[in-house]
Order: sequence, then structure tokens, then C-alpha cells
Amino acid sequence: MPPQPRDGAGSLHAQLWPLTARFTDEGVLEVGGVAVPDLVAEYGSPLYVLDEVDVRTRAAQFRAAYDDRSMPADVYYAAKALLATTVARWVSDEGLGIDASTGGELAVALAAGVDPARILLHGSNKSYAELDTAVSTGVGRIVIDSLIEIDRIAQIAAEHDVTVDVLVRVTVGVEAHTHEFIATAHEDQKFGLSLADGVAIDAAARIIGEPRLRLVGLHSHIGSQIFDASGFEVAAARIVGLATQIRDELGVEIAELNLGGGMGIAYTPDDDPIEVVDMATAIRTIVRDACDRAGMAIPRLAFEPGRAIVGQAGITVYEVGTIKQVQLGHGAQRAYVSVDGGMSDNLRTALYDADYTCALASRASMEDTMLSRVVGKHCESGDIVVRDAWLPDDLRAGDLLAVAGTGAYCRSMSSQYNYLPRPAVVAVRDGRSRVVLRRETMEDLLRLDPGGMTHE
Ligand code: LLP
Repeated sequence: MPPQPRDGAGSLHAQLWPLTARFTDEGVLEVGGVAVPDLVAEYGSPLYVLDEVDVRTRAAQFRAAYDDRSMPADVYYAAKALLATTVARWVSDEGLGIDASTGGELAVALAAGVDPARILLHGSNKSYAELDTAVSTGVGRIVIDSLIEIDRIAQIAAEHDVTVDVLVRVTVGVEAHTHEFIATAHEDQKFGLSLADGVAIDAAARIIGEPRLRLVGLHSHIGSQIFDASGFEVAAARIVGLATQIRDELGVEIAELNLGGGMGIAYTPDDDPIEVVDMATAIRTIVRDACDRAGMAIPRLAFEPGRAIVGQAGITVYEVGTIKQVQLGHGAQRAYVSVDGGMSDNLRTALYDADYTCALASRASMEDTMLSRVVGKHCESGDIVVRDAWLPDDLRAGDLLAVAGTGAYCRSMSSQYNYLPRPAVVAVRDGRSRVVLRRETMEDLLRLDPGGMTHE
């Protein structure tokens, strides 16, 4: 499936390939005005390529769509999707804050020079050290995910003689219609404090009783890769209900509602996520109705999109190695196309059964297509990158394949399985490329192994 022509900003959400991607007449894929084969010649393969214009455009679009004059909102970029100082700076430039979920993500955001007040710290098991860093650097908000954190943050705040703004992450009991591992607000899982069990209001009461803590808001994240606003309806109604209960029983007005991230993107032509502007409008209506019904003033809103900011901006380029034709019976066959990466640079197919779109990126082919499966070089049969693809019959070793939609949760979930060095991430823009994260080397792989350093 070659990159589709752009047909206006309104259709950004349905785009599979980066905004600036195009095929030349010779069938060569260009992104940001740079030919993919040239990038591979310079940086090697596999390679993550990131379209700066795409990231910035989507970040700005989210900000404009969600931060409405009628209902102001903060948009935090969920750094877990993909983080490097360059990416943190791009999204900050476009007016987004950063949602960090570990001390590591926090460290990168701070190294990028992001204003700590625009950083929010998440985490279902934050260490004392992580909380101490957050408090001492003046992180804007900490989202409380367990009762013990309340005591810890209060103690750390006292040590630093500061007051800390916190939110309570509430498990609202919504089943998001997405993969089980990426749905997060149903009851039987590890995140948040349960609304139904009364733990959430208990947490609110304890926070209010701590002079060093300020309860500024409630948080709910219902899951990921969500295509419509219906899940937010129940979540918003329940969380607004809790806010009114806190007001009535504990006498504190909730100033901020953070509804998390999870806005979905298209990985294949079959995916049809709602447009960014339509989702934002639908959520505003949902919140307004819920607040009206509850007789509550509309709080400031906050959102934490990750995938929807960087997902489509990224592609992964691989070099084709071996190709095996496997008979499926009834005369059908499938080509197993092995590439030089795999589940170490994209775990999503193996872990979530995710679907991707890919294309030959280094030349044109007029041949018919063959049913193909793009697989990696790891020692597992589940090491699949693209489960079903139609690739040209004359595909051969040395061809370059590009996989679309790999900007989110590919590099960030990558590993060194089988001691494969992780690919570089390069950014492209206006005919130029630069390294965002350099490729790992064999020396990097041996660096942690004292026995491996004896040759030095
Ligand atoms: N906020 C919170 C509290 C989250 O837990 C997450 C994602 C986000 C925001 C951002 O969600 P997004 O807008 O990117 O969907 N590894 C999985 C996704 C896991 C998401 C975990 N939390 C994947 O590859 O699909």
C-alpha cells in the first residue's frame, strides 16, 4: 500500500504514512524530502525514520483541538510512546507538556530543558527516589496511584519544604474496547484507585488531610487505541460523580479533570479512528453534560495522547534478507520475507497481534503481488513484523521495506533480544536528516558485561 496522497489537514487521522512521505517515479520512498535508501546508506538498517513535520503538526493539532476557549485544557505528550530529548523539545515547542511515567522518562524530559512545571509524573509503583526527584525538581503534578504514595510524597514535600500538586488516578470501571493488555480502567488490573470500592475517595480524604499536598484533580485513563468517544462518556460521568462527592463530603472543589490518552490511529486501511477535532468536541460535550447533571462547575481539562502524536510520524526501514515460499495447502503459498530486525525493534505484532502496513521502499516493481509475511531474524516463530502483506513477486535480498505507523511503542518497547543492537532513530525535515538516537554498536552491547571488556 503506497503512501496515499494528502488531501488536506482534515484527513490527518486516516493517514497511514508520515505527512511528508511520497513515492518518487522510480518507486523510492522519500520522507521529509530525503530518500529512504540514502538514509540507510548513511545510518544503516534497520532504521527508524521520524518525520518532524508530522510530529509537530499533530502536536499542534491536538493542542488546538483540545485546548478550546470554551473549555481550556492542557495537553501532555505521553512520553512512553517515544522519547528522546529531540522529541520532547518538538512537542514542548508546540505547547504540549510531558507525561513521564518513570524517573527515566522524567530525566530525559528534564535533560531536554522542558519546564518542570509542565511535566506530570505517573507510575503505578513510583520509587522513593523517583518521587524525590519529582518534588525536588518542581514537577508540576504527580498522579497518585496507590495510598502509600500519599505518605511518601507528604514526607518528601516536608523535607524540601514545598507544597505538591497531586491528582488521584481513579479506576472508573470502564471496559475500553481494545486489546486486554492496553485497556486500563476496568476493575481487575493494577492501575489506579477504585471508585467502586471507595478507595479513591479515601485517597482524596487523606490527601486533603496532608498540609503539604494539594488535591488539584482527578485522573482517568481508560485504555489505548480507542476509536470513538463512547468509553469517555461513562468514565467522565463517574469521575464527575466522584468530584461532586469530594465537594459535598470533603468540601474541596476539584479544579482539574485529566482524562488520559488513548486516542487511536490507523495502522491499516481498515482502521477508522474518529478525527482529532471530532473526538475533542465529543469529549467536551460529554464533560459539559456530566457537569451540568451534577451541578458542578466545569473543571480545567487535561489529556495525555502518546500514540496519536508520534505513531504515524515514524516508519521502520528494513533490508530484505532471505525469502522462503511456504505451501499453505490448496495450492496457496505464503512468502516468508525475513528482514534484518524483528520483535526486538517492534514487539507490537508479537505482543498484541497488531497489524501494520508495509511497502517496497527502494525501487518500483510492476510485478504482481504475492501473499507475504514479514518476519524478523529472532529465534521465535512469533517474531512477526507484518502478519499479512502483499509484496511484489520479484522482491529480492537487498530490497528495502518500509513499515508504516511505527513511531509509537516500537523504539520505546525495543530490546536487545538475541544481542541485536537497537536501530538508530533519525529525524528528517526539509531534505535533511539528523540523529535522534544513535544506533547501538557491538561495544554498547558488551559494555555492561565485565567479561566482555577484557580486550580493552
Ligand atoms: N496516559 C496514561 C496514564 C497511560 O497509561 C497511557 C498509555 C497514555 C496516557 C498514552 O496512551 P496513548 O495515547 O499512547 O494510547 N504499549 C501499548 C500501549 C500501552 C499504553 C500504556 N499507557 C501499545 O503498543 O499499543
